[in-house]
Amino acid sequence: MMKRLFETHPECKDVFFLFRDVEDLERLRTSKELRAHGLRVMSFIEKSVARLDQLERLDELALDLGRGHYRYNAPPKYYGYVGVEFIRAVQPILKEKWTDELEEAWKALFLYVTRIMKKGYWEEERNQHTNFVEPSKDKPERKHTRI
Ligand code: HEM
Repeated sequence: MMKRLFETHPECKDVFFLFRDVEDLERLRTSKELRAHGLRVMSFIEKSVARLDQLERLDELALDLGRGHYRYNAPPKYYGYVGVEFIRAVQPILKEKWTDELEEAWKALFLYVTRIMKKGYWEEERNQHTNFVEPSKDKPERKHTRI
């Protein structure tokens, strides 16, 4: 799933700084870090499904995940690709059991989760910017304000 993401959107590789210089996508397939992220995504999705009847709890988790992705430097423009790749990976396994309804349900879940992740990302970005006070050139120096 993550390998296909890098094939279709090679710019995502830059986020995983470890892979920035890896041109050979076959090497990415066996990469431990990439597999680990794929498993983290799957485990998060499993948790999300389990919390579909406690949306407040799911919102909290996804918001937190989005904040984390700000710190990992993984911007929202890439989140939408993950659901698409998930469907591409799962569909051939389910073969004729795959239905339009199932596809719509997975799309809706990824859309829901990534929408809240984005909110968390932007929130964290705003927080970081408000906490950073740029030294002002106009600020009067202590020695000039002495009376
Ligand atoms: C539906 C979309 C995504 C989900 C559900 C997801 C899920 C996760 C989870 C559960 C973690 C571990 C978080 C933690 O322990 O704090 C993680 C970490 C991370 N994610 Fe994502 N992710 C998504 C999309 C992406 C994308 C598109 C990128 C990069 C292009 C990315 C880059 C990273 C990085 C760099 C880390 C930290 C390293 C690591 O744990 O592998 N994520 N992600």
